[in-house]
Amino acid sequence: MPRTNPNIIITGTPAVGKTSHCDVLATNTGLKHLCINQIVKDRGCHECWDEEHKSWIVDEDKLLDSLEDELPQGGYIIDWHACDLFPKSWIDLIVVLRTDSTKLYDRLKARNYPEQKLQENLDSEIMEVLLDEARESYDEEIVIELRSDEAGDVEGNVGRIETWIKNWKEDLVVEAA
Ligand SMILES: Nc1ncnc2c1ncn2[C@@H]1O[C@H](COP(=O)(O)OP(=O)(O)OP(=O)(O)O)[C@@H](O)[C@H]1O
Ligand SMILES: [Mg+2]
Repeated sequence: MPRTNPNIIITGTPAVGKTSHCDVLATNTGLKHLCINQIVKDRGCHECWDEEHKSWIVDEDKLLDSLEDELPQGGYIIDWHACDLFPKSWIDLIVVLRTDSTKLYDRLKARNYPEQKLQENLDSEIMEVLLDEARESYDEEIVIELRSDEAGDVEGNVGRIETWIKNWKEDLVVEAA
């Protein structure tokens, strides 16, 4: 059964603005916001607690198993800092959010991140790690890079994604005709 609603990944370095974008996009479109961090916790899809990084080590096989009945049906916005584990056949669009490193520093600092974790995340943003991961894992034409520097960027970006969704649905109708 082809999907009648797309699956969209919103990814990027921690604190780039993924959840802020997903919240607005879900409200505007009715697509379901899947916060993977929450799912990992709620469904126990983790191997162990990483004390150094104060985060769970995710069991990716368990996570995919727990999503395989819902995700392929379509209509989900996937909110996570990684994207390369999802099968290509499940995903229609990958949005990689990017931000200026000084702005990212301020956002991470406001969260009281330990210095080492903060620096690792800044390096990751500067080295475009998530963008490379997205481009290596999916067809280039479904990977888009959007700026998330100012509060006003959220609305502009969400508007662009809504236009993309509208076009995706129109293409479905044309293909079916
Ligand atoms: N475009 C933006 N301009 C200014 N501030 C922003 C922008 N996007 C997000 N923020 C702020 O940055 C902080 C982090 O945002 P958010 O929680 O959406 O990031 P995230 O990518 O979901 O982080 P995590 O990976 O930890 O879940 C919040 O305080 C939010 O208000
Ligand atoms: Mg978030």
